[in-house]
Amino acid sequence: MKALMRRIGRLSRSLYARIVLVYLTSLLLLSVATAWIAISQFNQLGRELQQRLEIDLAENLAEVMQPALHQGADSAAARDMARHIVSINPSLSLYVLDERGRVIADYAEPACGLGRRVDTRALETLLGDEPMLPVLAMSPCGQQPGVFSVARIRHGEQGGSGDFPGFLYADLDNAGHASMFAMLRTSSILRTLVVAGLMALLVSGVFGLVWFALLTRRFSRLTAAVQRFADGDFGQRIAAPRDDELGRLARAFNDMAGTIEAQLQALRETDRQRRELVANLSHDFRTPLTSLRGYAEQLLAMVTVEEEGRRRMLTAILDNADRLTRLAQQLSTLALLDAYDKPLLREPFSLAELAHDIVGKFQHQAREAGILLTMDCDPSLPRVDADLGLIDRVLSNLIDNALRATPAGKWVRIETDVRPEGVRLAVIDSGVGIAAEELPLVTQRFYRTRASLARGEGSGLGLSIVREICERHGAAWKIVSSPGEGTEVSVTLPRA
Ligand SMILES: Nc1ncnc2c1ncn2[C@@H]1O[C@H](COP(=O)(O)OP(=O)(O)OP(=O)(O)O)[C@@H](O)[C@H]1O
Ligand SMILES: [Mg+2]
Repeated sequence: MKALMRRIGRLSRSLYARIVLVYLTSLLLLSVATAWIAISQFNQLGRELQQRLEIDLAENLAEVMQPALHQGADSAAARDMARHIVSINPSLSLYVLDERGRVIADYAEPACGLGRRVDTRALETLLGDEPMLPVLAMSPCGQQPGVFSVARIRHGEQGGSGDFPGFLYADLDNAGHASMFAMLRTSSILRTLVVAGLMALLVSGVFGLVWFALLTRRFSRLTAAVQRFADGDFGQRIAAPRDDELGRLARAFNDMAGTIEAQLQALRETDRQRRELVANLSHDFRTPLTSLRGYAEQLLAMVTVEEEGRRRMLTAILDNADRLTRLAQQLSTLALLDAYDKPLLREPFSLAELAHDIVGKFQHQAREAGILLTMDCDPSLPRVDADLGLIDRVLSNLIDNALRATPAGKWVRIETDVRPEGVRLAVIDSGVGIAAEELPLVTQRFYRTRASLARGEGSGLGLSIVREICERHGAAWKIVSSPGEGTEVSVTLPRA
């Protein structure tokens, strides 16, 4: 249900929905306007036809009524004659107007128009040459202008005799005009027109929906291709057969994608060469460094107790050679990690045995620094599944960090234990610790704490290597520290 609502929500915000809304609204407005114009013109046509057909009616009636009218417009003879005519055509209303258009005889029962005036300009227009029909006038009893027929007459004065000019006015619109809905009910032509109009509306509506759907589908395809490209599928291209705006956009996208792909390829190649260079350099550094160190150690052995100056210089040479060797080692591990296409060499091994070996290597350094380096590892622990060489680097880096951060007289301990998610190994020290604000930064490449900068050692790569190796193994790891008390770094590796 939620998914459906989300889909509807997305659709209502889509370009398609907006185009369709605008299209259907304008179609509806256009249809209403057209229908309104058509019906009112239809109405007008009806009036025009009626007036055209009955334009001579008043003239004919005047001819018949003229003798009676001479006796007076309101005479009994005139009234009888008019009643007789109206009884034949009840939709007709007859009036006699004086020359200024005032009603002097209304033959309707009861008379409603007596004394009212009809605009003589409309009468003159209809009586003129080739009038433009329909000519409308407000009839004496009418609510709105309607069609009429008129004839010039001569009549006797009311209540007396004489010969005065005037008009015989026949209101043709007497029955009034049917409302639009009444016309729809009763006029088959109008009904056919309306049905045809509705059909046209439906067909153009459906046609519009389909056509816009086709048009926006090309947009959606374009968007989907751009999205796939943005998600990293750089081989993505769009078929653009048509030479319209969308086709040109698709071609422009294809060109852009081609350029980006080529540049990316070049960048990858440069990156690969850079990594190779770092890996080769860091490897090539080691041999001369080892030989340098060897000669320096031999020279130091030859130096006598009195030659204190030489001893200091040779010790400095050895220290620097050590630092360079460590740096070369860290760089070569980084180069190895950077080569993402290189898979991990996973194998089952005992973490306790590995820890034992590495602690053995560091014992000399710990003794020299006056630190107690101990290990609490159960040899019967389950074996883990990991890259032995890389985990060796993790452990070496952690113990090295712990020993450097711990002052003489304190201790560093290695612990292992089994957890549901794997085997956990922790390196715990009683050293200077890491300030809370520095803790999130220590795993960044080349970041060194203030304490380490003051000691003037390290390259800031060790923990970033630990983090990357753990991430590549999918292994959880954690660092907890309290300044002045010590630090604990733990890694949990999956069981074999
Ligand atoms: N156990 C620890 N106690 C206190 N500070 C630590 C500890 N472990 C690491 N640090 C500090 O965190 C920073 C980052 O450590 P990292 O191992 O990445 O670099 P490094 O030890 O300076 O150089 P490298 O390990 O590459 O020789 C260093 O400044 C380091 O002194
Ligand atoms: Mg380190």
